[in-house]
Order: sequence, then C-alpha cells, then structure tokens
Amino acid sequence: MCGIVGYVGESQAKEKVIDGLKRLEYRGYDSAGIALPINGQIEIRKHVGEIKNLEKIINDESYNAAVGIGHTRWATHGAPSDINAHPHGNQDGSIAIVHNGIIENYQEIREWLTREYGVEFKSETDSEVIAHLIGIYYDGDLLAAVNRAVEEMRGAYAVAAIAADEPDKIVAVRKDAPLVAGIGKGCNFIASDIPALLKYVREVYFIENNETVVLTKDDIVIYDENGKQVKRDVFHVSWDADAAEKEGYDHFMLKEIHEQPKGIGETLLRRLDENGEINLDGITMTKEDIENFNKVYIVACGTAYHAGLVGKMIIEKLAKIPVEIDVASEFRYRDPFVDDKTLFIAISQSGETLDTLAALREAKSKGARILSVVNVVGSSVARESDDVFYTWAGPEIAVASTKAYTTQLICMYLIALYMGRAKGAVDDAQYKFMLDELKALPEKVEAVLKQEDAIAALAKKYHHKEHIFFIGRGLDSGVSYEGSLKLKEISYIHSFAIAAGELKHGTIALMDTETLVIALATQDFLYEKMVSNIVEVRARGARIVGLAKEGKDEIEKVSDEVIYVPECADEVSPVLAVVPLQIFAYYVAKYRGCNIDKPKNLAKSVTVE
Ligand code: F6R
Repeated sequence: MCGIVGYVGESQAKEKVIDGLKRLEYRGYDSAGIALPINGQIEIRKHVGEIKNLEKIINDESYNAAVGIGHTRWATHGAPSDINAHPHGNQDGSIAIVHNGIIENYQEIREWLTREYGVEFKSETDSEVIAHLIGIYYDGDLLAAVNRAVEEMRGAYAVAAIAADEPDKIVAVRKDAPLVAGIGKGCNFIASDIPALLKYVREVYFIENNETVVLTKDDIVIYDENGKQVKRDVFHVSWDADAAEKEGYDHFMLKEIHEQPKGIGETLLRRLDENGEINLDGITMTKEDIENFNKVYIVACGTAYHAGLVGKMIIEKLAKIPVEIDVASEFRYRDPFVDDKTLFIAISQSGETLDTLAALREAKSKGARILSVVNVVGSSVARESDDVFYTWAGPEIAVASTKAYTTQLICMYLIALYMGRAKGAVDDAQYKFMLDELKALPEKVEAVLKQEDAIAALAKKYHHKEHIFFIGRGLDSGVSYEGSLKLKEISYIHSFAIAAGELKHGTIALMDTETLVIALATQDFLYEKMVSNIVEVRARGARIVGLAKEGKDEIEKVSDEVIYVPECADEVSPVLAVVPLQIFAYYVAKYRGCNIDKPKNLAKSVTVE
C-alpha cells in the first residue's frame, strides 16, 4: 500500500527519503518516485517496480537538495507505470505532490481543470489533480495553496507538497489517511507511517484529520482546518527499529510465527495485575456500561475477521450476550441495526484498514460504543475508538498476518472474561480457570513450534496439491477459515474452509483421491462428531491430516497423518491449533518457491476501499 516520506534539513534529502521508503517496502508497492527542488524547478524522478530501479536513476550528484518528498505506490487508478507513479507535478513543474488515499471527485476536477485552465494531464491517476489544483492556487504561499486545494477535494488523502519557489519547506495535509511528522535535530520528517522514520527520529507528532502541517528544517507547525495553530503533544516511539529486521529467519513470516509466545505473553501481561485480575488501565467502559449493552457487534476484515469469529463464540459463551459479526466492507453498506446499547468491537492489526475505519464511523454515528483491538499504537482505528485493547505483538511486517491473529484472540478472551465477570455470568472458579489456561498458552505455543520440522515434512509431501480443504466444528471451524486463508494467500493453492457438518450439504461432491483435507478436531465435546465427518470424506478417497489435542489419538485410525497440540481447555485451543496451520502454509509456499513475505496482489495495509 502507498507510502509517503518527506525530509527537510541540511542536505542529502534523497538518501533519507529512499531509506524511509525502503522501510515501507513491506507494505507492498508497484512503483516509487522522488521529487527535489533544484535550481528553481522541481525535478521528479520515478520508476515502475522496486525501489532499486529508482535508485539507479537518482544516483548522479547533481540530483540533490536539502528537501525532498518520496512515495511508493500501490495502483488504484491507472496501471502500475512510470507515468502513474508519484510524485506528480503541475503544468509548469513548479509544484510536486505525493498522495495516499483516493480523491473521489477527481474526474470532476480533472474536467474542470482541463476546461478552465487548459491543463494537460500526464497520468491516469486521481492524485495528479492535487498537483494541478495547488498549482493554480499558488501565489507564493504553498500553505495557502494547499489549504485552498483541499476545499475542492472529496475522499481520503494524506498529501505532501513542495514548491520550487519555497525550496526550504514541505506542506502536508491529511483526511482519513495516516500522517506523522518526525522531529529531528536540524531536520524534520513527514511520513505516512512511523517505521519510515525510526532510523532518524523517535519523537513524532500525529497529524489529525483536516490538519495541515508546515515543515522547515527548524520547525514543525500544525494548523487546524480554520488555519489556527494547534499545540500537539510529542509522542515518543519506544519500539525498536531492529524489531523490524528478520533476525536470522529466512522470512519475516517465520520470525513472526516464532514471536507468538512472546506476543501472547506480553498481551496478557499488560492486562493482568499482580493479583491476576484483568486490569483495564486506560479503558473507560464501566460495569454499568456493560450491563447496559444488549448486543455486541464485531467487525473486521480478513484475518482480523477470523479472530472475530472465535471472539463471537467466546463472548457469547462467557459473557452471555448476543454477538453479531460482519466483514467491514459489508457492514458499512447495509444499514445495520446498531444503537447506543451496542458495543461495537473493531479488530485491526494496522488500525488503518479503510473498510474497518468506515464501519467504525458508521457504528459511532448510530451511537454505538466503540472498543477496538489494534496492534499499531496511535493508528486511526485506535484514535477514533472510545477504548482500545492493544495487542502487543510488535510490528508485523509479513503481509500474511500471524502473531496479530493470536494476540487478537487473547484480547477477545480478556474482553469476554471481563464482560462475563461484570455481568455475573462468569463465577470465580471459571474466571480463575480461564486465566490459568490463558497464562499457560505461551509455553504451549512453544511446544507446538518445536514440531516445525515435522510440519515442514508434511508440507513437503503435499505442496504439489492444487486443492486443500480445511474442516472443523465449533471454534475449530473459525480456525479452519484462518488456516485456509493463510495457505491461499502465500502459496496460491486453491483452498476452502467449511464447517465440517455442512460438508454433506454440497461441498462433499468435490472430494476425491486428489483432495487433501486438514481436519481440526480439538473440541472435546465435538470430537466424535468430527471423527464421523472425517470418515465421510475419507470414504470419498480424500487424504486426511488430522489435528487434535494430545491424548485424543483415536483420530489416527481415520487420518493419514496427525498433528497434536498440547492438552488445553476447548475455549483456548484456537490459539494452539492455528500455529501448525501457519507453519504448514509457510512451508508449502516455500516449497512452491513463492514470495512469502510479499505475496502477489496483496498489500499489508489496505487503506483503500
Ligand atoms: C491476511 C491479512 C489480511 C488482514 C486484513 C485486515 O493474512 O493480513 O486479511 O487481516 O487486511 O487488516 P488489519 O488487521 O490491518 O485491519
């Protein structure tokens, strides 16, 4: 997904900008570019493909300045190409901009600029209109021109602009797309995401919606939409840039799979006090609020949605309150029944997923109370929520989400337990039992990780399969969806997940001797029913990899291979059961020679609709 980096300082802007763009590579992109003010003109250089293509065309010494803006693009309007890459310039080359987001009325603006000002557009992008708008309003004051231009724009944007006549500054503005200003010494930065800046700065300002910011080498001045100067608290980024390195693993995904015991432990630790009680530091939701809710709505996308599937079952079971769940892209367009008695839970690793953010706003406008489960501190979802349960997974770089999912599950358990307790639905014994089960998870996940070689061997054996099914019942069906998504997104194998009891209503028609079925059977009270479902598919010739808790070895009689996870309460088994599925997907993709950390067509953070 698109990334913005800008630098204003003493010299060598291009190095800082390129370095920042590289830090954002993990988000996925198809082209990159940079603009510098040089000798009274803006010189834009851009190239389709990887940043190294761009580096080749900017390494001449004469291409340098103390100010620069750069961008990595992920195509939305117009194919990936040199011309469509950012930055975009205005007609006479005196202005350049980079943009994240979508300008919804760009066609309208485009026609108007062509008709009234004879503007000739070079690209097919929506973003180019921004450069021309700023250009026509520019009268020696970039801030004023940017403010005037945004009055014409509808949609979502984070924009950074430079002008040839003011070569000592960057002006940036945002609406519904993240933007952060980094505070350096004798230099300052602007970026769409904190990792882009971490090599150089630790202190940042979050730029809020409809704010404009002017950066010079000695100053960062933020203005609200009325042009009034805003005082913003400095945010200190405590996480380490090295956390974003691979630390010896072949891929970020494998590193992140192995970081799960730590992430789970950390997420628990932050919410348990010394007496083992769930602490709600920073959470404003009271016991009375909880008693007042008559419904919970969970909304998210992709893997986060799958965490929500488990969350729904757990909250209903422990807190005895009805829970609806929906994918964010559907929720926002179907006038859902939400009111001030609804607790709306948004789950998002990045906290910037546009569909989730829009759903959150829809629920908020209807009076719902917003609780979010988010990994990125200070992200848009976090900032727009009434309360936030952070997942302490650390930065997740691989596009395929792993440690975010398991830590999201932990938050769902904590929320369910807290609500259950507040409503009197969970008694002391059950509360203690569940907390003990949760606390035991990091060690149990470690034990699953020790089976990596055996799971890799299974992946080697089956990596040539073209259809792999995942089946399960109860909580296992939720985990099946996640296992299937993981496999398809990084290995490109066709995969399908289905509640095992539903197979006989149609899907079983697809089973034959070529099919591999991964059958999850970790729910004790559904174990026998699951074994029957396995027998049904086996009778059609499918090969079976069973997944069960240690000690439940009857499954061996009906499976070709079995993976065991440590004994645990049924409720928490999703945290253990998903890990072999992540490892299996990883190694299948590896044996198929796929680009694991950056699968084709996917981006880490989906900030467009
Ligand atoms: C899959 C994956 C995606 C994300 C989804 C939501 O591995 O990563 O399905 O889960 O795009 O992203 P967040 O959680 O950032 O809102």
